[in-house]
Amino acid sequence: MSALKGRGERRDKPQITRTRDTTLPGTSVGAPTTDHIRYDLTGIEHQYDTLLSELPGTDVCFALKACPVDEVLRCLADRGAGFDTASPAEIRQALQAGARPHRIHYGNTIKSDHDIAAAHRLGVRTFATDSLEDVTAIAENAPGARVFCRLATSGQGALWGLNRKFGCDPEDAVRIMAAARSAGLVPAGLSVHVGSQQMTGEAWQQALDTLAGTLLALAGRGIVPDHVNLGGGLPALGYLDRRGTPLDPPLDKILTVLREGMEHLNGLAAAPLRFVLEPGRHLVADHGAVRAHVVRLTERTGPDGRPARWLYLSAGKFNGLYEMDQVTHPLVFPGRETDEHVPAIVAGPTCDGDDAYGGGRHPASVPRTLASGDPVWILSAGAYAPSYTTQGFNGIRPLPCVCVRGPEGLPLT
Ligand SMILES: Cc1ncc(COP(=O)(O)O)c(C=O)c1O
Repeated sequence: MSALKGRGERRDKPQITRTRDTTLPGTSVGAPTTDHIRYDLTGIEHQYDTLLSELPGTDVCFALKACPVDEVLRCLADRGAGFDTASPAEIRQALQAGARPHRIHYGNTIKSDHDIAAAHRLGVRTFATDSLEDVTAIAENAPGARVFCRLATSGQGALWGLNRKFGCDPEDAVRIMAAARSAGLVPAGLSVHVGSQQMTGEAWQQALDTLAGTLLALAGRGIVPDHVNLGGGLPALGYLDRRGTPLDPPLDKILTVLREGMEHLNGLAAAPLRFVLEPGRHLVADHGAVRAHVVRLTERTGPDGRPARWLYLSAGKFNGLYEMDQVTHPLVFPGRETDEHVPAIVAGPTCDGDDAYGGGRHPASVPRTLASGDPVWILSAGAYAPSYTTQGFNGIRPLPCVCVRGPEGLPLT
């Protein structure tokens, strides 16, 4: 399997651009290293194009939080993507990447008066909401703006549920949209987010059913939204579970549910609907890899009196791989593939006990011959790694990002 789906067929010489200063010392434990996060821009473009061909007519707004890397944003903006943003700083970054303000929406339901006004000054005119308080604040600080109301979902079937903290029920949504209209805002849409790395088509079906019921209830109040935002949640394909088995999300089924659901919603809506998607991880996860190195492979006696091997790598939970409690990233040890393999718990380099892959409970199969300094590729690590990183915990700096074009840029499993 290629963990890096959709890599282009061109065999151009890779062009390498650096997005952060890779000469910073201390990007990892030990001596200066070449550790970095590498993105294959060709793969990201191909992923974007494939999504559009699977769900034609949709408007793809990349969830910027998943990969706030300028080159990646520029390549998506050049391709016509819009952006889902969560703060004025993200809006500025999307604008700098070349997005026009009308292609950017403020998708965070949680925002201060100050941030709403700042977004409005930057030219953003479309805001997510899920409460009457937020609608009042938008009306005061972004008069006349378009709002879309986020409906709550159960989060079931997702690795990260995103439920409870966001979204309202359909009855509240009708009240909120009516209040928006009374406050001089445009009640423009509805949205959902089924949870990140959503693994089931059923979750999408439930969300689409809730959207359908809410659209009908809104129509009863004379409110006719012009769009439905289906949020993020589309899965990455390259992750393993904690035991090292491929997660294998049913992407084809999910896409079928989405296609049929959009058709159904359009059939019952009083006016044609535009459909927005906010994919984050689906576009970038499998096209980014962390290039780290082996700190040490050790063997000690475990608490049960049996020998236990631990493989410490230079990258872990505190420099990008924050999600490793939930998913396991495939590892590639260049040049060691045919060496004898042994089981070892894999962990990051810090003094924190939580900094262990898969919660530190499930050993991976690793080459016995690994030596300190050996390179390792941590695959399917392109989503959220540049954003989920600490600044200086144990002296570790965020990993620099390197963007390449061409198939040689990333390793294959
Ligand atoms: C509002 C919103 N949209 C989109 C996303 C992207 O989700 P994913 O990476 O699962 O596609 C997120 C992630 O938290 C989000 O909060």
